[in-house]
Amino acid sequence: IAQYAVFGNPIAHSRSPQIHRLFATQEGANISYRRILADRQRNAFADAVRGFFASGAGGANITVPFKEYAFDLADEHSEQAQASGAVNTLIPLPNGGLRGDNTDGAGLVCDLQTHLQTSLRGKRLLLLGAGGAARGAVCALLDTGLAELVVANRSADKAQVLARRFGIAATGFHALPPNYFDVVVNATSAGLNGEVPDICPAVFGQCVLGYDMLYASDKTAFMRFAAASGATATADGLGMLVRQAAESYRLWRGFTPDADAVITALRRRPR
Ligand code: ATR
Repeated sequence: IAQYAVFGNPIAHSRSPQIHRLFATQEGANISYRRILADRQRNAFADAVRGFFASGAGGANITVPFKEYAFDLADEHSEQAQASGAVNTLIPLPNGGLRGDNTDGAGLVCDLQTHLQTSLRGKRLLLLGAGGAARGAVCALLDTGLAELVVANRSADKAQVLARRFGIAATGFHALPPNYFDVVVNATSAGLNGEVPDICPAVFGQCVLGYDMLYASDKTAFMRFAAASGATATADGLGMLVRQAAESYRLWRGFTPDADAVITALRRRPR
């Protein structure tokens, strides 16, 4: 049976095996998908991945903190991977090499459009954060016909670096205009400590969707902050997680899973 895995450190919390097994059930396929806790050291990670593919694996997902290492390891790259400098999906090539792709941005865009019930065309979007999660999102967001994409980060200089790379606008948290953005996406890791980015509540004054890339069984701190500040709707990142997984699955197997059915199942059965 076809072998898949997700490499990360830590990895015990990963829901990817559960998600991909549900996709396989939809396809009527028998696959194996496991978590692999990789050593944080670059060469050890590369050896583990190469060993996995040498044994005939059908594909791998890569998560924190290895997405840049996976980029370096891949022999060729999709446009999304190239633009973000990070790889979350490895696909074996017929010649024995590896193709690196990045489905995080596509997963986010697809989920935002589902929550908005329309496209992002003409919208003003604020992206909070300038780390790996934000960087993975920018390239896909730029393809959606947004009227404006602004990146803001606690350390403004880091936002400038990201913005310059993609030719978009950047600011610190305190220079953000009130009542301006239609969609606000939280790509910071503040929520991991129960914190929210220190932005003025008025930033949400015209906001129709406050979106947190994190997910939890309850509303996240960012979702509660956005709603209390006037955002019409909020969402967590479970949809993004399932949709990036669905895109990886399609790249490996040529089968497009029904992501909505899996999102519904996971909400009903959190673990
Ligand atoms: P990830 O891969 O999750 O993006 P990362 O690359 O370490 O992780 O980036 C973390 C991001 O969350 C950064 O943008 C960081 O802001 P700084 O660059 O100013 O450090 C942001 N972040 C983390 N904790 C935060 C907090 N409490 N408030 C606001 N931003 C925070």
